[in-house]
Amino acid sequence: MFEQPIPTLRRDGEVVHVLDQTLLPFRTETVALRTLAEAAHAIRSMQVRGAPLIGATAAFGVALALADEGADDATLAHALATLGATRPTAVNLHWALERMRLALQPLQPAARVRAAWAEAEAIRADDTATCDAIGRHGVRLIREIAARRPGPVRLMTHCNAGWLATCGAGTALAPVYAAQAEGIAVEVFVSETRPRNQGLLTAWELRAAGVPHILIADNAAGLLLMRHEVDLVITGADRIAANGDTANKVGTYLKALAARVAEVPFHIAAPHSTLDFASADGAAIPIEDRGADEVLHVRGEAADGATAELALAPAGTRAANPAFDLTPAALITGIVTERGIARPGELARLYPEQAR
Ligand code: MRU
Repeated sequence: MFEQPIPTLRRDGEVVHVLDQTLLPFRTETVALRTLAEAAHAIRSMQVRGAPLIGATAAFGVALALADEGADDATLAHALATLGATRPTAVNLHWALERMRLALQPLQPAARVRAAWAEAEAIRADDTATCDAIGRHGVRLIREIAARRPGPVRLMTHCNAGWLATCGAGTALAPVYAAQAEGIAVEVFVSETRPRNQGLLTAWELRAAGVPHILIADNAAGLLLMRHEVDLVITGADRIAANGDTANKVGTYLKALAARVAEVPFHIAAPHSTLDFASADGAAIPIEDRGADEVLHVRGEAADGATAELALAPAGTRAANPAFDLTPAALITGIVTERGIARPGELARLYPEQAR
């Protein structure tokens, strides 16, 4: 089992500690969540981020709400609605909240607090085990390439779908960590992922794990793919529709297009909690708009170690910031799940109980 170097989410009695990802890669600090409002803020402000971790944090947020405010029907409904409104695209959020609702609503209020903690813990454990299984299946793709030719297997990823985004090894990076554990040499191209620069989180993770990696500007991906300097692209997902169309961090679609033209395999890695059979195709998936500010400013560390926020354009410049994009199923070679690797159109066969 993969052990997180620092837990992304840890419970201590009735307090939940999360690693504050807005401070990475320069500062490693946790933030304590004690109330529904603090849990909702952690998700909205992206102190926690990544679809599976958003879902787990929301589950613990429900437990915090009931422990703090009382466990009557109105408090439960308010907690579910508040957390459900934090971020729109990652369906794991709604999956986790629905699981909490089903577990808690039938109970008497007196039994709900204990049950809420237990269900949130179960959701976290489910994610940890799921990430390990995704790693076991996904490493086959890397093994096959390593067997065909000498030298490190050259992967490309986008955003951060590593341990920071989950309660375990990650999704897209789980096969990378599994390959490393098997002694297979890999090298990962990491795109910076403007405007929030989650690629820097991926670089931080890989550096700490001793996995060779190369940070690239987002727009360098096309050239590397065209020149066949990449063997395999693998990214995470925030929501996969019934037909396999996939929402993931903005920029994923352009990588999939370039990979298709260059005939480089393009895979998505995702758990069952990311599947949304209620959305027939990508057109039904809501895309989060995070506002102009993130595009117009950049945050980094100055030479004296202070965190600095810099404007990139004059005040008043118009900017658009769709946080995710849609990759059509036709551009996806395969989806690596905890049950195996499926073609996008085969998800219902792998998950018949969810597809019903
Ligand atoms: O906006 P973020 O940082 O929450 O977006 C994260 C992604 O897009 C990830 O690729 C996705 O959630 C998969 S995480 C295992």
